[in-house]
Amino acid sequence: MLSIIYLSTFLALTSACGLPHGFEKKDLVKTAIKNVHVWNGQKFSKDLSTVVFINGNLSNAPSLGATMVDGAGGYLLPGFIDAHCHIQECSYLDAMRQYGVTTALDMGTFPISSVKGCRASGVTDIRTPGAAGTVNGTLISQMPGYPSDSFIETPEAGRSFVASRVSQGADYIKVFLDPLGPDKETLTAVVKAAHAAGKRVITHSTSYADYDTAEAAKADIPCHAPLDKAIDDPSIAKLIANGQTIVPTLIMMQSVVNNTGTPLDAYTFNAQGSVTNMYKAGVPIVVGSDANLNPYVPANPPFGLSLHQELQLLVQAGVSPVDAIRGATSLAAHTFGLYDRGSILPGLRADLVLLGADPTADISNSLSIQKVWVNGVEHDSSV
Ligand SMILES: *[C@@H]1O[C@H](CO)[C@@H](O)[C@H](O)[C@H]1NC(C)=O
Ligand SMILES: *[C@@H]1O[C@H](CO)[C@@H](O)[C@H](O)[C@H]1NC(C)=O
Ligand SMILES: *[C@@H]1O[C@H](CO)[C@@H](O)[C@H](O)[C@H]1NC(C)=O
Repeated sequence: MLSIIYLSTFLALTSACGLPHGFEKKDLVKTAIKNVHVWNGQKFSKDLSTVVFINGNLSNAPSLGATMVDGAGGYLLPGFIDAHCHIQECSYLDAMRQYGVTTALDMGTFPISSVKGCRASGVTDIRTPGAAGTVNGTLISQMPGYPSDSFIETPEAGRSFVASRVSQGADYIKVFLDPLGPDKETLTAVVKAAHAAGKRVITHSTSYADYDTAEAAKADIPCHAPLDKAIDDPSIAKLIANGQTIVPTLIMMQSVVNNTGTPLDAYTFNAQGSVTNMYKAGVPIVVGSDANLNPYVPANPPFGLSLHQELQLLVQAGVSPVDAIRGATSLAAHTFGLYDRGSILPGLRADLVLLGADPTADISNSLSIQKVWVNGVEHDSSV
């Protein structure tokens, strides 16, 4: 009788708070990284300080009782966000993490479940649009099993494409505009339907005309940079009026030029020149590599490393190292609505990269990676 009362009291106590009293607290792991210059979004702190996180969340709690990590005078950044890559295999995420990329924004993979299935603790986090919109007859459309509801030749097809992706749980909508693609009217229908569903629209735009289409339809984020003609003042005026943000993927554009035997001038004058013009005019520039291992595309920038190559090419195009870093952290996060990351602030995800040298002094120091934390999970890293 006594033991039954004891048992029922125990059950009542445990069900009230989920776990026996005292257990939950033990489960919290506090970590403090000391002796680091901390990135504040614009620059590194001059003095060495300490950053604390509890499990996967940055915290303003004191470091008392924390597991201490000595940053040895290094430079602590928020984890990098690669705003353009193609995650056909979960293993690609390991290379990204090794290079400090803690968030990967996939730009078109099917089935969508194959990308979402990569999510795991301590693994680079992902977002995906599922299969991208295109028209029947493009190389992409001929990939075996490509879902035909992605073929958007009419506004009506555009709207049902968006409805289909939204019902599958797409994080945003991606549309290829070339070499063949939907017209302005169809892309406009896609953008309106996506916005009504609370989703951003990202376009593949590798020509001046594609930028024109993305501007006319007010797509949120045109990707790539034109190889045929540099973006000029009239085009920039529309980008600014629309509040559009660009992901130029210069490493992809340069790789394509090299792999196809196109004169390098097409890259230098048009792709790099576009970034120079847009940056000077104040168009926000976000960092994306287009890392992929897809045999259907003309170049395959390597996962992880190419994020750093992109930072270097952006700086060569005239972007300041500080703005290049912001384009791979806070600006990338806000552009894609990922408000839980991108900065080192209490409450945000503990996605962190410890560098041995200052990347604002020389952007190639972004490769001096010593440790990476993904949602608080530590990985040693030397690349
Ligand atoms: C971390 O933050 C998330 C999102 O705000 C929250 O759900 C979770 O409870 C937090 N975990 C800890 C250990 O503070
Ligand atoms: C795509 O085009 C090919 C060749 O014209 C045709 O055989 C096929 O039925 C088309 N697919 C769709 C879904 O329209
Ligand atoms: C492309 O070729 C140029 C000129 O040879 C070279 O400087 C550049 O590094 C190459 N880019 C890539 C991504 O291979």
